[in-house]
Amino acid sequence: MEIDDPRPVAEPAPFHAPPPSSAPGLRPAAFAQQDLPLTDPSVLSAPTMLRVERLNLFYGQKQALTDIDLQVARNSVMAFIGPSGCGKSTLLRCLNRMNDLIDNVRIEGRVLLGDTDIYAPETDVIALRKRAGMVFQKSNPFPKSIYENVAYGLRIQGQSDRAVLDEAVERSLQGAGLWEEVKDRLKDSAQGLSGGQQQRLCIARALAVRPEVILMDEPCSALDPIATARVEELILELKREFTIVIVTHNMQQAARVSDHTAFFWMGKLIESGLTEKMFTNPGQRMTEDYITGRFG
Ligand SMILES: Nc1ncnc2c1ncn2[C@@H]1O[C@H](COP(=O)(O)OP(=O)(O)O)[C@@H](O)[C@H]1O
Ligand SMILES: [Mg+2]
Repeated sequence: MEIDDPRPVAEPAPFHAPPPSSAPGLRPAAFAQQDLPLTDPSVLSAPTMLRVERLNLFYGQKQALTDIDLQVARNSVMAFIGPSGCGKSTLLRCLNRMNDLIDNVRIEGRVLLGDTDIYAPETDVIALRKRAGMVFQKSNPFPKSIYENVAYGLRIQGQSDRAVLDEAVERSLQGAGLWEEVKDRLKDSAQGLSGGQQQRLCIARALAVRPEVILMDEPCSALDPIATARVEELILELKREFTIVIVTHNMQQAARVSDHTAFFWMGKLIESGLTEKMFTNPGQRMTEDYITGRFG
């Protein structure tokens, strides 16, 4: 902790060393209004796509999420930020019941996708995961051809009509901005693609089943800057048709791609709001400290 740190010593924050700063004493290059995309006015009036209500999640005895209330607007991008271990991935997995696959998880509260109460006993989890697809940090193409990777979701739904599959594969690869790069080698192994192409292939695989929501858990953290920029452009295109929730460690990325940002700390939602406001004039001191790199 810096000597001139005005915070009381008793503040219960496990702050790490202050970030390296080339100009000690100055606030690290934060976010000036002109560096941020302006708030897209359409997100202010968009209907709610996802609604999280008083969500608590326990892994065994350990509580990982506490009283989370959050809404995600349709056709918008919501970024989850916060230090490692604060519960971002856990909350993301709650949004399509991926936590069901983990033993010993107990969840209280509600998550609504449109009008569907996703934890209601009658909810069809397979259908739900079709509506809310997930893209992971590490691109995970199957050891199959490019074509079969994209067609996979439809095949497991029983689709075998070649024309339907061809259309879906082309549409999805177009949607993921990959078609031009791979259209002449659809039968080649997906594992021969570059890392950035593999990640866009995984996005195409998610698009193939026509989801409403795309959940992305640090989708660029293994990519180089050029591939990252490509995925970020893609996110901005995809939100015209889909609702996107992205977990990111990269504050600049959150500022560039998201309409709303939610900041978490130790399983709690500290603050959420318009990205433009969160990055220039957050309501909570802790949010500002995190965004300006004082801890994390
Ligand atoms: N499968 C699991 N079993 C037990 N604890 C877990 C599991 N996954 C995550 N946790 C714990 O839950 C907390 C939140 O983790 P996570 O959601 O992965 O955070 P983040 O994505 O923000 O880094 C951490 O303390 C982590 O150790
Ligand atoms: Mg995570």
